Amino acid sequence: MTHQTDPDYQQKLAAEARLWGDEARKMAQHIPPDWAHHRHLRHNVIMHAADIDALLACIQPGMKTLELGCASGWLTLAMAERGADATGLDLSDESLQVARDYYHTVRDQISGQVTYQAVDLNYLDLPASTYDVIVVKASLHHLVRLDHVIRNVHQALKPGGLFWAADTAGDEHILSVLIAGAICFVLPTETAYADKMRALLRFGFRAPSRVKASIQADGLSPFEGAGRDHDWVSLISQQFRVEKRVDMPAFTGYVTAQFKAPDAVAVPILKVMRVVDSALVRAGLLKNTGVILYARR
Ligand SMILES: C[S@@+](CC[C@H](N)C(=O)[O-])C[C@H]1O[C@@H](n2cnc3c(N)ncnc32)[C@H](O)[C@@H]1O
Repeated sequence: MTHQTDPDYQQKLAAEARLWGDEARKMAQHIPPDWAHHRHLRHNVIMHAADIDALLACIQPGMKTLELGCASGWLTLAMAERGADATGLDLSDESLQVARDYYHTVRDQISGQVTYQAVDLNYLDLPASTYDVIVVKASLHHLVRLDHVIRNVHQALKPGGLFWAADTAGDEHILSVLIAGAICFVLPTETAYADKMRALLRFGFRAPSRVKASIQADGLSPFEGAGRDHDWVSLISQQFRVEKRVDMPAFTGYVTAQFKAPDAVAVPILKVMRVVDSALVRAGLLKNTGVILYARR
């Protein structure tokens, strides 16, 4: 039985789609699915804005681009804003509806084209030598057929085309987990200090594995972490020419998500934290939590 005919797989896939669809719809109620707005979210200011801008700088008018796991479409739309003929693929019809609804409200201001399509990326079947740029952000670790996906992306790019892939760098390292846990113990978070202390006493030596599960969002969705066992960086490196690699900081991303304080207070602290964290990663003292690859066919 293949996954496609396996009722268990189909059921999990439907639950995956529901979860991300809910997420996209709820998020869009607070903030339009548009990079012009999303770039100001604290998580993006600290973690992603510079890297997304660097990717967008590679997009030129008339390019044919594809995003895998586009959710509410903000990155696909941003590529179309730079004049690309941009397609976004996702599992969740609900997310794609959010993306389409928003696109219709701004399409007059977009110089490129946008198409959104529902696809199970595990069975990606792209036409050969078609795209100038294919991007995937935070979606590879949800896939169970990563080797197939990466091979399919390779043949779908035009020669010299860019595959931009950003995702987790495998299992979180214990040192990063301990630092993230310690910082979140000290800083104000959603959890009251008394509850943190109670949890520490209750879980004792098992506390780091709870923090690790929280960092990895284990169990968040049916396929959360399904692709963690596949070494996507090696899979891409074997087939593509890796032009640039960005190692993400070790613990700042998690602390950014947990720190409960007004942006005016939190952002300067987190910016300094990121500088220190990145220096420790560069020095080889901590393991990066994520990787971005610029890979050429
Ligand atoms: C963590 S979200 C990332 C969304 C977006 N790329 C971002 O960075 O904001 C993962 C996305 O992958 C999609 N996804 C998960 N499994 C998928 C599959 N098998 N096929 C297509 N999309 C999938 C989900 O619906 C969700 O939108």
